Amino acid sequence: MNKIPIWFDTDLGVDDAVALLSIGKLPQLELLGISAVAGNAELHHTFENARNVCRLAGLNVPVYPGAEYPLFVPLRTAPLVHGENGVGEVELSPSEAPRETTLAWDALYKAAKAARGELQVIAVGPLTNLATALGKYPDLKTLLKRILLMGGAAQGGNVTPAAEFNIYGDPHAAQMVFKSGVPVVMCGLDVTLKAYLTPEEVDEIGSHDTPVCRFVHQSNQLALAFNERISAPGLCCHDTCPVLFLACPELFSGEEAGVYVETRGEVTLGKTVTDLWSDKQFADRHVFVVLNVDREKFIAKVRELLLSY
Ligand code: RIB
Ligand code: CA
Repeated sequence: MNKIPIWFDTDLGVDDAVALLSIGKLPQLELLGISAVAGNAELHHTFENARNVCRLAGLNVPVYPGAEYPLFVPLRTAPLVHGENGVGEVELSPSEAPRETTLAWDALYKAAKAARGELQVIAVGPLTNLATALGKYPDLKTLLKRILLMGGAAQGGNVTPAAEFNIYGDPHAAQMVFKSGVPVVMCGLDVTLKAYLTPEEVDEIGSHDTPVCRFVHQSNQLALAFNERISAPGLCCHDTCPVLFLACPELFSGEEAGVYVETRGEVTLGKTVTDLWSDKQFADRHVFVVLNVDREKFIAKVRELLLSY
């Protein structure tokens, strides 16, 4: 099998962890490296979380530290959903791997050059690392085959009525990514709000007495309580959507569109403006906006992957 070379950029929170654990059991993916960015929690947490989830998964993959802060806006974390430490206040056994000191953007560029244009980036946090890499290395945009990101929304938002957390977290970085010309798959709230585990499905996963299943169940209790308070149907596996789009595209549907980010609005800061349903289309339409998922098949796949540890 020709494996797909990928890079995982993450603000390692509780749903990022499910995405990384899923990657670990998808044989068609070759995970070349992981970069941590501040977002769900501060960088010192997300960096260690990525290292420690790799240990839990038995993944021997280097984790590189990235941006502590967004390019221009203040850092905004999400402790109500992810806990102060980013993994639902669960204490993971610490990784014994050496701490990488190469910075995320430098490591990503090196991996992209080595992959000779085949590297696909799965980005599931604020896009600060990716934007920094694209800015520092002008030829990087010719070396990335595709960027599959969790972020944005053609309609709605979860941090404001107009904006989703990852894009709102660094709107300027997101704009650089959407304007880079690299083909993008956008898994926004349009699809990720449909990719949820019910509380009963989370409990069923937790009933399997393995370290991974116990971790997924325990680390998501804060998020489940938060979602219950806002009457959400369950635990959205936001960040696993781009992962399974890459590995199992048949589970999803969507449309090509032009997408740009509002970087100056007061009410609409961080909104991903798409031309999906407007008479006026953008000139450049290189984004595939994912809109739907077969939830039953998606959840069955997530469960299969988590139970295979
Ligand atoms: O809006 C959901 C996104 O914000 C997910 O990536 C979650 O991990 C948080 O980063
Ligand atoms: Ca995330």
